[in-house]
Amino acid sequence: MVLAIVLLVIAAFYAYMVFETTWLKIERLDFSKKGTGLRIMHLSDLHVNMTGIQAERVRKAVKAENPDVILISGDYINKPVYAADFLRYLHTFTRGRRTIMCLGNHEYKAFRSNSEGLQNFIRELEAIQVEVLINKAVTVEKDGRKYNIIGIDDLRRGSPDIDKALDGCIPGAPKISITHNPDLVLSIPGNIVDYMFTGHFHGGQIWMPFNLEFTLLRDDQLCRMGIKRGLQRVNGIRVYLNRGLGNSVVPLRFLSRPEILICTIP
Ligand SMILES: [Fe+2]
Repeated sequence: MVLAIVLLVIAAFYAYMVFETTWLKIERLDFSKKGTGLRIMHLSDLHVNMTGIQAERVRKAVKAENPDVILISGDYINKPVYAADFLRYLHTFTRGRRTIMCLGNHEYKAFRSNSEGLQNFIRELEAIQVEVLINKAVTVEKDGRKYNIIGIDDLRRGSPDIDKALDGCIPGAPKISITHNPDLVLSIPGNIVDYMFTGHFHGGQIWMPFNLEFTLLRDDQLCRMGIKRGLQRVNGIRVYLNRGLGNSVVPLRFLSRPEILICTIP
C-alpha cells in the first residue's frame, strides 16, 4: 500500500514536471512607465529538440503582443541535425518581424570542430531575414527614436569582444545588448551598456532545495551569487535572465515555467 502511494506520488510529480514545460508565462517589464517606447519580445534557450512550446504558440504571442523587435539570446540546437527543424520553428513566428539574435554555448557545441557548418547555419538564418549579431551592433528605430542593439558572443564557447561589439553604436541612443551567458556582465567595466538580455540558466529549470540545481549542475558565477532569473542590476547594468522556452538535459521543469518577456524601453 505504502509503495503504491509512493509510486503514485512520483508519477504525479513527473506528470506535473512534463506539464510545466508546456505552461508558458508571458512576463512583462516597462522601463518607460508609460508603455511607450521600443516594444521588445525577448526569447531565449529555445532548445528546439527539447521544448514543450510549439512554434504556433509563439506565433500567436507575437501576433497578440505586436513587438517592434524580437531579440533571442542563444541555445537553439545541440546537434547540426536539428538545424532544419530550428529554422522551420523560428520562421513560423519571425516572418515579417525584425528579429535579432546571438549564439549560445549549444550552437558552438553542436558545430565544434566544424566552423564551416556553423557559418552555413548562420547563412541559413540570414536567408530567413534573421540578423545574427556576433560582436556587432545594429540600430532599430521607433517613432523617430533610435536604439542600439548589440549582440555579444557567448562567454564560454564563443569569443566575446565588447569593444568590437560597441564599435557600430550610434551615440546618444540607448544601448541594449543581447548575450547568452549573463556572467558576461561581470567582465564588463560597468555601465557601458544600459540593458542586457540573457538566458542560459533556465531559471534553474528544476527547482531543488538549498540551491542544489545550481551548485550541482552549474559552475557559473551569478547563480552562485544568488542571481538566477528575472531582472537584476549588476555593474550598473539592468540585466534580464530569461528562463527560456525549451529545456536542457531532461524535458522537465519544476517551478521555472517557460517564458516570453515583453519589455518596453523608453
Ligand atoms: Fe540553454
